Amino acid sequence: MTELPNTIKHVASPLARQTLQDIDLTRPVAGRHPVRILPWLQVVKIGGRSIMDRGHEAILPIVDEIRKLLPEHRLLILTGAGIRARHVYGVGLDLGLPVGSLAPLAASEAGQNGHILASLLAPEGVSYLEHPTIAGQLAIHLTNARAAVGSAFPPYHHHEFPNSRLPTHRADTGAFLLADALGAAGLTIVEDVDGVYDIDPNGPDGKKAELIRETSGAELAKSNGTLPFDPALLEVMATARNLERVQIVNGLVPGRLTAALRGEHVGTIIHTGAKPA
Ligand SMILES: Nc1ncnc2c1ncn2[C@@H]1O[C@H](COP(=O)(O)OP(=O)(O)O)[C@@H](O)[C@H]1O
Ligand SMILES: [Mg+2]
Repeated sequence: MTELPNTIKHVASPLARQTLQDIDLTRPVAGRHPVRILPWLQVVKIGGRSIMDRGHEAILPIVDEIRKLLPEHRLLILTGAGIRARHVYGVGLDLGLPVGSLAPLAASEAGQNGHILASLLAPEGVSYLEHPTIAGQLAIHLTNARAAVGSAFPPYHHHEFPNSRLPTHRADTGAFLLADALGAAGLTIVEDVDGVYDIDPNGPDGKKAELIRETSGAELAKSNGTLPFDPALLEVMATARNLERVQIVNGLVPGRLTAALRGEHVGTIIHTGAKPA
């Protein structure tokens, strides 16, 4: 019998000989701080329920504000879902659909809201980009236009975690994950309230609500109260690599978004777990 030559190729890799499960072994290679891919980018998340569902009264002033901001900043504008997702959740839950079927249905409303905003900003060269384009070609788009619009919903879709009947990873979580992965200069979440309060300012005891001007994700995670964003946002903030803070601002008050993007403290600043490089 002829012996076959040994053709096994040994690929040199610092991780070749060890399990990826042992953090002590992977740290020398994987422990490095990730680079900021788009360090000049400002990410702005526009609420579905708080802004888009209000129609022209809320949308046109914010579009006007964004238009004026374009010479100053390069923006990725990400939109959330609102009333139509809530309706589809209601119909889907009534039919017993699993969370993995509901997530893409809600995500499609976030995309619709993005298309609406992009249409209004089209004269400024702004377009709606699908996720694969954001992942692969955002830099070229933002070299040719001052802003792009996308869906804030993360594309877990049919892979959404089944730990809840409603999708846990929604628009705020998606916007944060994207901004952190891109190493963006900032993330501003636009709502219809001045920031995060100790209790819901629109709830039954709303008159007693007090604005929290500055806090951390870890601090907010300790309370069981409601929040103006997905609770899963606090989880992803804890393990953030680049984004050190997020600001929640009131998009119904003209000038707040502009001030936030200029680095002013005009809403609630939430510090994440990211350590400076
Ligand atoms: N602790 C809180 N601080 C501020 N707003 C809160 C809080 N808890 C609940 N809310 C409510 O969240 C609403 C925003 O709703 P949300 O579902 O986040 O809208 P969107 O889909 O636009 O993000 C606010 O109008 C407010 O009534
Ligand atoms: Mg919200």
